[in-house]
Amino acid sequence: MSDHDAPVRVHKGHDHVDDEMKRAALATMDSKRYYMGPENDAFEAEMQAALGIKHAATVNSGSSGMFLILQALKIGPGDEVIVPASGFVTLAEAVATVGARARFADIEDTTYNFDPAALEKALTPKTKAIVPHHNYGHPADMDAVMAFAKKHNLYVIEDCCHALGSRWRGTAGGGIGHAGFTSFAGKSISVCGLGGMVLTNDPKINEEVRLLRDHGRPRSGGKRFYEITRIGYNLRLSELHAAIGRVQLRHLETWNEQRRANSEGMTLRLQEAKVPVTCPVTRPEAVHAFLHYSVRVPAEARDGLKAHLDEKGVETSIMYPTELYLLPPYREVWGGKPGEFPVADRVNREILTLPNNPALTESDLDYVAGTITDYFHGR
Ligand SMILES: Cc1ncc(COP(=O)(O)O)c(C=O)c1O
Repeated sequence: MSDHDAPVRVHKGHDHVDDEMKRAALATMDSKRYYMGPENDAFEAEMQAALGIKHAATVNSGSSGMFLILQALKIGPGDEVIVPASGFVTLAEAVATVGARARFADIEDTTYNFDPAALEKALTPKTKAIVPHHNYGHPADMDAVMAFAKKHNLYVIEDCCHALGSRWRGTAGGGIGHAGFTSFAGKSISVCGLGGMVLTNDPKINEEVRLLRDHGRPRSGGKRFYEITRIGYNLRLSELHAAIGRVQLRHLETWNEQRRANSEGMTLRLQEAKVPVTCPVTRPEAVHAFLHYSVRVPAEARDGLKAHLDEKGVETSIMYPTELYLLPPYREVWGGKPGEFPVADRVNREILTLPNNPALTESDLDYVAGTITDYFHGR
C-alpha cells in the first residue's frame, strides 16, 4: 500500500455534523428564506454575545470579510498594508484585490505571529493598515500591534480565521483592533466548507460592510429595498449555512476547551518522549484557540516524519509550504526575494501541523505521540 492509500486513523480536522445541524439545515429549505433572513440575524446576534463584540456581520468567506473591511476603510490604490511574511494567501490576495500593496513583516519564532521588532521596517508613508494574524489560534502580541498602530495612525484588521474564541488579556480576538474577520471553512466552526464573519466594535465599519456585502443596498427593520446607495458585491451567507453555524456556535467553547486539553496532552507526551520536536507555547496574556497544534521539527527530519505519519494513518499538514511573500504571483508584483524574512523561512522549513480536533481520544494522542517517538527512536 502506498503512503497515499494508508487509511486515516487520526484525522486532523473536525467535520462534525449531527442531527440537530441537519434539521436546522432542512428547516431553512422549508422557510423560503434563503439569504439575509432570520438565521443570519440570529447567527450574528449569537456571535456578538459569545465574543462580547458589538457587531458581527455574516459573509460568504473569511477572504470576503477581509476584502470588505479594506473596502469599508477605503483602502485602495496608492495605499499599503502590513501583513505577516508567512500566513494564508488571503492576506496578500485581499490587499491586491483592492489595488493596494502589501508590505511584509517577519514573524516571531515562538507564536509565529508578527514579530513586534520587525514592524517598523515594513512601515512607509503610504501605510494605512496592519493585519495581525492570530496564527494557529494564538493571538498576536496585540499590545505591541495596537501601540504601533496608534503611533503611526493605522487601522488594525485582525485575521481571526484560526482564532475564534481566542483571547488577549481577556478580550476576544476580533474585538481588539478596528475590525476582524473569521472563517467557517474547516475551522473551529466548519459550516459545510463555507462562510465567515466580519467582527467589529465600530458601527461605521459594520454598516459599510453590511451595505457592500449585499449589492450596496440598505436594510431597515428586517426589510431590504432596491435602493442601491453604494457600488457593492454579492458576498452574503446563505440561511442554510447560518442555521448550521448557529448550532455549531453553541459547541464552540466546549470544542475549544477540548482542543486545549488535547494540546496539553500532546505536549506532555512529546516532552516525556524526549523527541527533537518543539511544542507550541501559550503566552500568559493569551487564551489560545488551538485550531491547529503545530510543532517544529528539525528541517532535515520534517518531511521524513510527515511521510512516516502519513504511512501510519496520521493526517498532518504543512502550513504553509511557501511563505506568503514568496508566492509567485505576489512576488511578481511586489518583488519578494528569498531570504528577506529569515524567521518565516526557517519556520516554513520546520513546521508540521499535527491532528487536533475535539473528537480526539486519549488513545489517539498516545498513537500520534507513539508514532512520532517510533520515528525518532525507532522501535
Ligand atoms: C489564517 C487564514 N486566514 C484567512 C483564511 C480565508 O478564509 P476563507 O477560506 O473562508 O476565505 C483562511 C482559510 O483557510 C485562513 O486559514
